[in-house]
Amino acid sequence: MTSSIRFLMCSPHYYEVDYVINPWMEGNIHRSSLELAQEQWQGLYQIIANHADVDLVKPQPGWPDMVFTANAGLILDDQVVLSRFLHPERQGEEPFFKEWFESQGYTVHTLPAELPFEGAGDALLDREGRWLWAGYGFRTELDSHALVAQWLNIEVLSLHLMDERFYHLDTCFCPLTEGYLLYYPPAFDAYSNRLIELRVPAEKRIVVDEPDAVNFACNAVNIDRLVIMNQASDDLKRQLAAVGFEVMETPLTEFLKAGGAAKCLTLRVTEPLHPEPTGESGIVARTVTLTGHLLDSGLVNRALDLVVEGGGSFQVLKFDLGEQRQSTSSAEIRVSAPSLELMDEIMAQLIDLGAVALPDQEQDAHLVTINQAGVAPDDFYSSTIYPTEVRVQGQWVRVQNQRMDGVIVVSTSATGPAAVCKLLRDLQVGDQVIVGYDGIRSVRNAAERSRSTHQEEFSFMGSGVSSERRVELIVEQVAWELRRLRDQGGKTVVVAGPVVIHTGGGEHLSRLIREGYVQALLGGNAIAVHDIEQALLGTSLGVDMKQGTSVRGGHRHHLRAINTIRRYGSIANAVEQGVLTKGVFYECVRHNVPFSLAGSIRDDGPLPDTQMDLIAAQADYARLIEGCDMILMLSTMLHAIGVGNMTPAGVKMVCVDINPAVVTKLADRGSLESTGVVTDVGLFLSLLVKQLERLTQPHIAA
Ligand code: ARG
Repeated sequence: MTSSIRFLMCSPHYYEVDYVINPWMEGNIHRSSLELAQEQWQGLYQIIANHADVDLVKPQPGWPDMVFTANAGLILDDQVVLSRFLHPERQGEEPFFKEWFESQGYTVHTLPAELPFEGAGDALLDREGRWLWAGYGFRTELDSHALVAQWLNIEVLSLHLMDERFYHLDTCFCPLTEGYLLYYPPAFDAYSNRLIELRVPAEKRIVVDEPDAVNFACNAVNIDRLVIMNQASDDLKRQLAAVGFEVMETPLTEFLKAGGAAKCLTLRVTEPLHPEPTGESGIVARTVTLTGHLLDSGLVNRALDLVVEGGGSFQVLKFDLGEQRQSTSSAEIRVSAPSLELMDEIMAQLIDLGAVALPDQEQDAHLVTINQAGVAPDDFYSSTIYPTEVRVQGQWVRVQNQRMDGVIVVSTSATGPAAVCKLLRDLQVGDQVIVGYDGIRSVRNAAERSRSTHQEEFSFMGSGVSSERRVELIVEQVAWELRRLRDQGGKTVVVAGPVVIHTGGGEHLSRLIREGYVQALLGGNAIAVHDIEQALLGTSLGVDMKQGTSVRGGHRHHLRAINTIRRYGSIANAVEQGVLTKGVFYECVRHNVPFSLAGSIRDDGPLPDTQMDLIAAQADYARLIEGCDMILMLSTMLHAIGVGNMTPAGVKMVCVDINPAVVTKLADRGSLESTGVVTDVGLFLSLLVKQLERLTQPHIAA
């Protein structure tokens, strides 16, 4: 029969289950019957040929999965994006498919090497031509979606596959005529399900149950009102019939053994452009540009992930891949979201990643004047740890005092515009603050670049929590860094909790201070109290530090320590008067290492040095952190998080705690330079001191 619809198929001449690259193939190696496979394939071929034209590509020996032509590439109009198979077992099919596409006059787009994309197995056009649904998670890399979107000039809705049985999108998802959708929701993550529900109205979604799904009911070929599949339950047939679709079953059990069925065995090669993609009402769109080492650094991936998780979709308007590894790429991406609110969330996060909202040429950041002290407009832009620039009067201005959770205040003077991060509470009437996300960019790429060169000397960077086996390695690297910073006049700040003292780390920390490795010490009342208790009375919270046993009357020891310092008016005075003669704070006083103790509700005493005005304490902390290169956070969740919030990106952070949750929290702040170590802090410090000894006396070590 003649028809304008064409499919590409490949005879199963060399078909066989020869290897395992998906769960269906497991246990089925050489278990399929070629004879039966041929018969079943013929059955499918006949049905399709009765309703459309079928082209054939020549099967090739040694490439048994070539029957699955859905994976040849993705076609739209006269363009095709050739597949880049993830598994070497299928990569040899690529040139044969390429040759066929070229012989038919298609313009063939080839993805960069090692950017997997498995064609129409993972990318399905909305049958109304409005957009492309694209899967990722198993065979196809999310990054490839950006290139596909650009080449085919179509909006892509990326769907994250979660169940390895449904490793290709077409195994669990089948767009049908008139915007209907046959699919198996549990195969997708929550974000993807939300995206599907936002785009396909409930009455058009036909949900398949697991028994049908594992019979590959979603792996169907749809021609107008006909749906061809391996097998369907009566219930599914009824559901489809109710909305005007006729199911035609044709057994394909031999192909199920390789993880494929009707749809996999075909590739629809006529996919006409639809004249006017219907403008969806309520959907808002913004264009952003991204520049940098987009693919290498995983930036595109993260950006698209963000869009997808935020319930949005994207279209790539331009994508200039850097020619060389060291040259940068740039992409112009049109982001769509179903509501302004979702769009705002997505945009804020994209800006964090370094995206710039277009049109940046004409757009200054929006400013609103504060009319109530300490209160910002609701849509204020909240700052991040990343270096940020804002566009004021046509020029990009670097924001000063960069920190997290601040508001950006812009001022103009004779020397031009200036921008600074302020805390909400510091806003004054008349301050001009930035709202929205126009004219804001965070300059992450250059930094990321320089960081990657740094990485060799400090290679544990790359946020992560270390396993115990890695502790020694990290200690080694921290020691190197401490040494380097000390020798080059850098600045290391230690934030420490009382556990440092309880675990016997006091003497090691004292030594670090004495030897010039620490330029400032931050903590609370408790670490100073316990350090001083230990120096004066030999106990920490009443426990003898040498014997490890409780001392009679020891429960009063920390109060005695506090009382003594109060008598002298300050820790420094107690040192000067010869009362306090050792310990962490003694060393600080002796070596002019500034410290700040921030108070809290549960403090005993407090020591006269403890700052009980928390706003003043935050300011002290901020001042001491300024310009530092590395921060060691030693077993204090509260103070470490406080410090994390006020520290800009680019500062190395090492968080040591026995509680993995604390470490994860800090290491998670998203900056490349934070590393967590789950271990006993006393042990960590003793290893660190030993390592430093080894570094300073290499001749002894050798
Ligand atoms: N054995 C093949 C593979 O794992 C099956 C491909 C199925 N094709 C598809 N479009 N789902 O690659």
